[in-house]
Amino acid sequence: MSVLRELGIGQALPECIEVEPACTPVRLGVDSTLPSHSVNLRDTPAVPEPSHAGGAMELVHLSPDHPGFQDEIYRRRRNEIAALALAYRPGDPVPEVRYSEVEHGVWRGIWERLAPLHETCACRAYREAARIVHLDERRIPQLAEVNALIRPILGFRMLPVAGLVSARTFLEYLGRDVFLSTQYMRHHSRPLYTPEPDVVHELVGHAATFASPEFVALNRAFGRAADHAHDEGARKRIDRLYWFTMEFGVVEEAGGGKAVGAGLLSSFGELGRFESGADLVPFDVDEIVETSYDPTSYQARLFIAPSFERLALDVIARLEKP
Ligand SMILES: [Fe+2]
Repeated sequence: MSVLRELGIGQALPECIEVEPACTPVRLGVDSTLPSHSVNLRDTPAVPEPSHAGGAMELVHLSPDHPGFQDEIYRRRRNEIAALALAYRPGDPVPEVRYSEVEHGVWRGIWERLAPLHETCACRAYREAARIVHLDERRIPQLAEVNALIRPILGFRMLPVAGLVSARTFLEYLGRDVFLSTQYMRHHSRPLYTPEPDVVHELVGHAATFASPEFVALNRAFGRAADHAHDEGARKRIDRLYWFTMEFGVVEEAGGGKAVGAGLLSSFGELGRFESGADLVPFDVDEIVETSYDPTSYQARLFIAPSFERLALDVIARLEKP
């Protein structure tokens, strides 16, 4: 989930995908998925079109402290799934990943812990949307299946990426009603932890939100703002606003803080402790855009809005500011 880490893959030809430790979602993926038919190019800058070095034996390089670093089978698996995304071309069917029983087991185990927490800690808009999308909690859904559910509702769909894309690319795709999604599963030895956003984060944290008019309006506002951001300062402010809302937003509901952000909603460790473990400070978009964040650990400071509506209105108004 860090969406929001600008690693500049859009400016270079990456030969592999570097994975750095971070327990929060770092957007991974090589952007070869621009759906040209859905892009309005009249008033938007060109989305960077990274390429990749075809034929690399090791597509995904894990850092030595990644839980799967020593696991050859896992590394091979990551490469296989990365290759599927890299081979994807606009207009193709979204590639199917044939998940193993181990991968399905990790998914089930996470859901067993997350589902009860969603009942008590997730905001109303998320819970309502999740009831509509109703992800299978026993088997990992395919992106194509999820798209069949969400696209007819409000137009959003999820397309595969293999590795890191820049925050700019990620956000600009949101403006085209496309969410760039990884498909690999975290390492089975540490189901509670992922150093990067995996299929659990993408589907549990984000997919359901595309059935929510409020969430979709926010995603589109971020996409529009990214299109119109013409300097690094503006992009950094958008990045921070996304981080503290769409990934780690909290709102007051039913007498307590409820999670809005996908980073919280997909992490049962953090979802179960944010109210007591983080410093909850009043929601202020002008302060948020000046606040840096650490994607490598639980968030020490979260901004809590008095309601989802207030959060959405303030964020959209801030995004529309020049
Ligand atoms: Fe995310």
